[in-house]
Parts: sequence; C-alpha cells; structure tokens
Amino acid sequence: MTQTPQAPQTPRTPQTPASSSRLFEPARLGGLVLPNRLVMAPLTRNRAGADGVPGELMAAHYAQRASAGLIIAEGTTPNAVGQSYPHIPGIHTPEQIAGWRRVTGAVGAAGGRMFLQLQHAGRVGHPDTSGHVPLAPSAVRFPEPLPTPGGLREGVTPRAMTAADIGATLADFATAARNAVAAGFAGVEVHSANGHLLHQFLSRNTNLRTDAWGGSVERRIRFTVEVVRAVVAAVGRDRVGVRISPGANVNGIEEGGTGELYPALAEALAELEPVYLHQVHADPDDALYAEIRKLWPGTLIANPALSREEVAADGGKARGERLLAAGADLIALGRGFVANPDFVARLRTGAPLNELRPEFLMHVGGAEGYNDYPALQYGCA
Ligand SMILES: Cc1cc2nc3c(=O)[nH]c(=O)nc-3n(C[C@H](O)[C@H](O)[C@H](O)COP(=O)(O)O)c2cc1C
Repeated sequence: MTQTPQAPQTPRTPQTPASSSRLFEPARLGGLVLPNRLVMAPLTRNRAGADGVPGELMAAHYAQRASAGLIIAEGTTPNAVGQSYPHIPGIHTPEQIAGWRRVTGAVGAAGGRMFLQLQHAGRVGHPDTSGHVPLAPSAVRFPEPLPTPGGLREGVTPRAMTAADIGATLADFATAARNAVAAGFAGVEVHSANGHLLHQFLSRNTNLRTDAWGGSVERRIRFTVEVVRAVVAAVGRDRVGVRISPGANVNGIEEGGTGELYPALAEALAELEPVYLHQVHADPDDALYAEIRKLWPGTLIANPALSREEVAADGGKARGERLLAAGADLIALGRGFVANPDFVARLRTGAPLNELRPEFLMHVGGAEGYNDYPALQYGCA
C-alpha cells in the first residue's frame, strides 16, 4: 500500500483575516438588508438651523458615512416642547421634513439606509431654547446648567404632565414617526435612554407619580410601552426600534430597581414586536445584558461602553466582536463614526483611525470637526 505524501504542515497565522469578522457579514432588519453589522449610533451634533431644519451640512455629513450597515440619525424632537439644546433638529414642521428629505436622499444616493431617533427631552429642556416650560413626569428640576441660545443657564422646574399632556405627547410621537417615513427614513428609533423624557418616566428620582404612570415597575415602564405602541400603530413594527440605557446615571438619572425594570420592559416591548432593541453600554460579561438578550426575541443592537483608549485603539472592533459572540445581532458605535467617514472600510482593512477632536462635538456648529475628517485615499497614485 502506497502512502500519499502529506503536505508539510505550515503554522497557522494567529490572526484571523480582518475580512472574516462577523462585523462585515450582511444582516436583515425587517425589510432591509444591511451590508454589514456596523450601525452608526445616534449622535447629537447641533448642526441644524435655529428652526431645527437640517441643511446641506448635515446631508453631507451623513452621506459621507453611508457605508454603515445602518445609520441612526441623531436625537430629533417630535414636538416643540421636546427640544433639548439649540440647533437640535426637529421633525414636526414641513420645513424640517423637507430638510430631512434632502439628508435621506443624499444618504440613499450614496447607498445607505437611515432610521431617525425620536428624542423628547422632557426636563432636559429650557424655555430660552424651546419657548416652552419643559414637560416631565414630575416637577423635578434638571440639576445642571443647560446650553441655551444665550449660553449656559440653570435648569428650570418642569411642569408635571397631565393626562391630556400624556395623550398629546403619544400622538406627537406617532405623527413624528409618520413624518420621518414621509421624509424618507426606513424607520424611527424611540429614545428611551440617557435621561430624556421616556427614561425620566422609567426612573425613580424623576418619576414621583402616584397615578397609573408611576410607582411600581409596571407603571414606570408604561409610558415607554405606550409610546412604542403608538409609533408601531402609526408606521408598522418593521419601522420601529427602541433605545434603552439600563443603569445609566446620565442627565441626573437614578433609576432605582434597574434589575427589575429592564426585564419587565423587554418583555412588554417584545409583545409589540418592534424591529429592534438597542442597548447602550452593553457589556458581554454583564448578567443584565444576558437576561435582556434571553427575553428579547428580535434583533438586538449593542452599543459597547468604550473608554477613550479603546476608541483610539480600534474604534470598538474587538468589543463589537465579543458582543456579537455574546448574542448581539448588530453593533452600534458612536465616536468611531464621528472621526472616520469611512469607518467600516478602516475597520475591515485594519487601516489607522483618525484622531477624534472632542472640542468640536457639541454646541459649535459649522463643518470644522464635523465634515472635514479625511477618508482614506484608495486606488493607485
Ligand atoms: C457627541 C455625542 C452626541 C450623542 N448624541 C446622542 C443622541 O442624540 N442620542 C443618543 O441616544 N445617544 C447619543 N450619544 C451617545 C452615543 O449614541 C453612544 O451611545 C456613545 O457615544 C457611546 O458609543 P461609543 O463608545 O462608540 O462612542 C451621543 C454621544 C456623543 C459622544
């Protein structure tokens, strides 16, 4: 019997080729096919006009980033009273809808897909900015100064929402979602994270209500559930995602009972079947993340909490891969997309990342630090 000579064993290279990462595999999201699993997280950049109308600057910014599997456009106000800072975009006037249509048109022409985040600020608003006394679950003042057109001003005590205010706000979210679809968005993300109105309802220190909208966990989650129900009814479940930030103590929030709150919310939302749940600061080693993953049957977008060093080192690629291995479907990254218009290509090829210029992140306006981050130059010289 003759033996076939064996090919000499060559040592395996310890590195997986960059292109084999699951981050670059396509994924389905409702009726959309995403070319990769990288999502541009919603990022407030205060570049809309004073009337909340998105202009050419914003269209160019998002079009530069159209290679993301999905772009979730920045927190956008569903009604006038819900505005947080100056130059935040809105989606409640015809001019704002027309402005966003130019943005989605530019992104579509560049091959991208967009959802729009609907963000009602609640108490994180100021009359000098919105022209209205802010509305919130309870009259609990925002504890820090807020940016206004005239500079930083002390937060004001919001007005506790009446039953009529709650009904009107639910209707405004539904109308805003319809407006977003009319403006060319594939869907909307309901912002129930980071200390804004919905998170204020979820949290014990900002929701002191004793009616059907406060008190027990079931009552504290009710407003988020009803907003999602209204928005799903308006535009269909394939066009609705929800963002949550379990345990986040941003914007003066102290949730209380985080471990009970989010499993209850995930279960209640699962019945409404929005197309995704988006968890901020998701940690693959965290028990609550694992529990939410178990309770949530649909697409889970995970946004890791990155240190500055991780953002600079690999933009979040390694953490994103760990989260995919721990059951996430899509990975949202923020600062990496700020500094790199071609973030996906850089992660795929291992090319170096641009350095973030944090001084241009907020409240500055203009193209500097916004649309002037360079893309890699491809092709032959
Ligand atoms: C300048 C800036 C603006 C942000 N604006 C929003 C926003 O409008 N809505 C929101 O839900 N999160 C917002 N975030 C949070 C990001 O979506 C994301 O969760 C955060 O940057 C962490 O992701 P990263 O480590 O990849 O940057 C913002 C973050 C930054 C740095």
